[in-house]
Amino acid sequence: MRKSTWVFSSVAVAAVCSAALLVATSAGAASDDQALLDKAKSLFKPLPESSALENTALTPERVALGKALFYETRVSSDGRQGCVSCHNPAYYGGDSLPLSLGIFGKVLPRNAPTVFNTSLLMAQHYGGNRATVEEQAVKALTSPVAYGNVSYEQAEKKLATLGYQPWFDKAFPGEAKALSVENWGKAIGAFERTLLTPAPFDRYLKGDTKALSAQAKQGLKTFIDTGCAGCHNGATVGGQSYQKFGITQDYWLVTGSTEKEAFKGYDKGRFQDTKNEADAFMFKVPQLRNVAMTPPYFHDGTAATLPQAVRIMAQLQLGKQLSDTQVADIVSFLQSLTGAVPADFAKAPSLPVASH
Ligand code: HEC
Ligand code: HEC
Repeated sequence: MRKSTWVFSSVAVAAVCSAALLVATSAGAASDDQALLDKAKSLFKPLPESSALENTALTPERVALGKALFYETRVSSDGRQGCVSCHNPAYYGGDSLPLSLGIFGKVLPRNAPTVFNTSLLMAQHYGGNRATVEEQAVKALTSPVAYGNVSYEQAEKKLATLGYQPWFDKAFPGEAKALSVENWGKAIGAFERTLLTPAPFDRYLKGDTKALSAQAKQGLKTFIDTGCAGCHNGATVGGQSYQKFGITQDYWLVTGSTEKEAFKGYDKGRFQDTKNEADAFMFKVPQLRNVAMTPPYFHDGTAATLPQAVRIMAQLQLGKQLSDTQVADIVSFLQSLTGAVPADFAKAPSLPVASH
């Protein structure tokens, strides 16, 4: 009798204890969850509703023209390159190649980043030599590898011959010279400014802690604790500063990058444009939105997979070796940055018929 009482009471005590423990751990987990969310909110931001320039409405006419021009290949010197050739809906606004292929099969010196959310970055291109998406679109016209036009006048003549005059008149009402390369830039820029891709991570940042899986949350924690968020932060999880690529050692020793004719050696990032030694090997930190969908990685496409890129980053930028579990967790977090391909982007527009 005594014995059975003892057994009974010890079971009861154990039950009470484990119930208490359960309450304690779930309360602990909830406060950990809240602490992580608070930390994340201090480092990242949800995507804004709009990235329209101040005082410039993204009118339907302008966006529609921008989309047509984005898909238009007949302005390039071989008639085959449009923005969409290298910024394709099938590849989340990139092209899936280590290095892009331009007019007449010319190899571009760098990997094509996605155009989604790029209007929110502090500047365009790895070296930041284009201030805005509008400027980027204008200068592509005379790039010897992308469009290959000899002058802006040549590009404008082609646009007129292709039948775009009424489109520009509608998109830029009342302007004496509506059809111009400046307006080509403004229209394409307006279209690009619509290409925002909200993702589960935005729902999380707005307070829905269930929007991320347990593994993604662990990955977010590891991403922050390892130091990744020191460079990859803000609404676009990157794209807001220039940083040296290869802090602990020369990047090519780890990435296997080869010297390139275009750079007379290794790509020195921002230095290629500024010629300032202080900018040597400084690259714009890429945004990480949709990064799981845009392999291969780095400015020269040398990392084929995301786990590989994550491991290399930890080693080159932070001098840390990540375990397989840490890499998998970070990748799971990065997957929560994948939004849907904007519906309007994926559907090819009908283009004007050339008049000749
Ligand atoms: C032949 C391929 C190709 C074509 C055509 C092309 N691009 Fe790109 N794009 C690239 C590459 C490669 C880069 C990276 C260049 C760099 O960083 O130096 C890039 C960079 C960009 C960026 C900057 C992204 C960032 O994260 O900094 C934007 C925006 C962009 N392109 C938009 C366009 C638009 C708009 C057009 C059409 C007017 C266009 N591209 C045509 C290959 C191409
Ligand atoms: C000191 C700044 C810095 C830190 C810290 C840093 N990064 Fe980066 N990250 C960069 C720069 C700069 C690049 C561009 C490198 C290049 O291609 O030239 C980059 C590129 C990447 C890319 C490839 C993106 C693409 O589209 O090609 C991924 C993925 C990435 N970082 C993830 C991480 C992760 C995960 C961590 C933490 C382990 C991390 N980064 C830490 C600066 C940093």
